[in-house]
Amino acid sequence: MRSAERVAVLTGAGVSAESGVPTFRGEDGLWKKFRPEELANFDAFMRNPKLVWEWYNYRKKLIHEVKPNLGHYALAKMEDVCPEFWLITQNVDGLHRKAGSRKILELHGNIMRSRCVECGEESDTVELREGGELPRCRCGALMRPDVVWFGEMLPEDVLRRAFEAARECDLFFSIGTSAVVQPAASMPLVAKEAGAFVVEVNTEPTVISESVDESILGMSGEVLPKLLKEAWGVEI
Ligand code: OAD
Repeated sequence: MRSAERVAVLTGAGVSAESGVPTFRGEDGLWKKFRPEELANFDAFMRNPKLVWEWYNYRKKLIHEVKPNLGHYALAKMEDVCPEFWLITQNVDGLHRKAGSRKILELHGNIMRSRCVECGEESDTVELREGGELPRCRCGALMRPDVVWFGEMLPEDVLRRAFEAARECDLFFSIGTSAVVQPAASMPLVAKEAGAFVVEVNTEPTVISESVDESILGMSGEVLPKLLKEAWGVEI
């Protein structure tokens, strides 16, 4: 690890779990309580935009109230000590940025941002106010949360750069992701095939655990600060 010149990291909901943000799968996962097909796809939004906005406001409020954890901070430090570094995240909570990471590729968008369904104009402030009208763009069309929903394409440029980082790195981490949602799920394997040393950090074994070089079972908020200290001599 110490000799790695190019490092790429893929994170999933597990990295924010210790901050109090619920994950998607597993016992307390969001998809156990809510139906993705009613909340996280474009047709559902157009059918019932108010319901979808209320769900996103609920998650935004939750995220507003939480702070990054030691796992996020360790990754921000890792960026400082590695000559080349990319943080690829499936998370929409913005906690990596809050922790100080800068080279972030947000595969699934950002929950704090909205965008117009027609002209694509973005906004950081628009949301459904309590008891209010649905948020609209200057062009008159509906604003939607700027996140990737089921059946939608990922932002092309971000995706291209993420695969490039996976192919070109010599050390790749897959952290706190169940590694079942494509195309992110294939990134650790793409990195491995291209010759990188691949390390997984997760509280449970996943579908890729057998294929990676090292699978570390534990919470990212505990494992990552230890890794940082052992490999790079850096404390947070
Ligand atoms: P999941 O909920 O599928 O997986 C979270 C993973 O984190 C699981 O494998 C847990 O074992 C692990 N985990 C939980 N707590 C942890 C901790 N403290 N430290 C380390 N690991 C921990 O979440 P994702 O893999 O991120 O997509 O899900 C991928 C995508 O599916 C999400 O981005 C979302 C969802 O549908 C969209 O909304 C487009």
